[in-house]
Amino acid sequence: MLRLANRRIIVGVTGGIAAYKSAELIRRLKDQGADVRAVMTAAAQEFITPLTLQALSGNPVHTTLLDTEAEAAMGHIELARWGDLILVAPASADFIARIAHGHGNDLLTTLCLAARCPIAVAPAMNQAMWAAPANQTNIQKLKEMGIKLFGPAEGSQACGDVGPGRMLEATQLADMAADLFPSNILTGKRVVITAGPTREAIDPVRFISNHSSGKMGFALAEAARDAGAQVTLISGPVHLATPERVQRVDVVSAEDMLKAALERVPQTDIFIATAAVADFRPQQAPDHKIKKQDNSGTMTLTLVENPDIVATVARQQPRPFTVGFAAETRDVVNYARQKIARKNLDMIVANDVSRSDIGFNSEQNAVTVIWPQGQQTLELASKSQIARDIVALIAQRLPKP
Ligand code: C5P
Repeated sequence: MLRLANRRIIVGVTGGIAAYKSAELIRRLKDQGADVRAVMTAAAQEFITPLTLQALSGNPVHTTLLDTEAEAAMGHIELARWGDLILVAPASADFIARIAHGHGNDLLTTLCLAARCPIAVAPAMNQAMWAAPANQTNIQKLKEMGIKLFGPAEGSQACGDVGPGRMLEATQLADMAADLFPSNILTGKRVVITAGPTREAIDPVRFISNHSSGKMGFALAEAARDAGAQVTLISGPVHLATPERVQRVDVVSAEDMLKAALERVPQTDIFIATAAVADFRPQQAPDHKIKKQDNSGTMTLTLVENPDIVATVARQQPRPFTVGFAAETRDVVNYARQKIARKNLDMIVANDVSRSDIGFNSEQNAVTVIWPQGQQTLELASKSQIARDIVALIAQRLPKP
């Protein structure tokens, strides 16, 4: 299982004989699906070359803080923000002392100061150095700072001693890194989400649309990504930034949205339709601006029905686990149950749009998630929280492989 899919890990390597094991560690992290960047201290480069770690990580290796070229490529603050975890392995006694005292005198210590993500260190040193009171005081400080300690293990050491101070093996470290990420419930799954409104052209300058903000769909994209899924967001015109590590496909009309969805169905495990698709489109959209023609005071626009995207996806064979949304103003659950049957869905998320505190442009939502044999109400909460809960319910109801 790819327990680290979508995760970005900065592997810090400091000077110690166990540095040779960081090559293996990078491989194990990548095996679990992580994107890895290595940061080496000057001393680390005496034990293993940046070229080795570059080849294994598939990314440039970061070695210096005060280098204009390296900073231009990816500055230290940008790198600190990039990581979901900084894992320093091996961590020497000197490095541990420097972060315990808040130093920022090389790239790796500076990253640890700038990081908002968790930091884990895997100490590796001679057993007497490990036991030294100064080192033990520093280790205590690291724990108080919330830095995670991976190991050390006990056993025979490169110097011939036996005792605590050995770095844990690469597979153990990769597993412990994966354990730090709470949710892997959609690992390896491919999720496609439609979001926002569609725009249906009347002529080149006018259109029919609605007030959908796209917030619920974008929140679901983030939640599915955080649960380990590979996410594609097919979005109508909205004013929202693309969530990181989510592939976004911009579309305008319902027909464009259907085409983008159907292209992806064969490679999709879960399809979630949050888009507020326009039910109708003008039958004709001339390629010139329509002029006011007479003084009758009226204008007739002939509309034709748009395809139902989620129902069309649900008719494909094989089809993804298909989830729809239902905005209702009364008898919410009953109407949503009818919709689940009519559109042949696996799940529907119903919300009561007659309430003024939730819905289209709001940051919050409250919904009832319904599937053929059951339902669960999710009380008023942020759209991010509702999205996480919906993702958890989807994961529970997915057919077991
Ligand atoms: O039928 P109604 O529009 O109420 O259904 C809402 C659900 O169907 C939502 O999941 C919406 O994204 C989806 N839908 C669609 N294509 C349409 C209309 C609605 O995918 N043309």
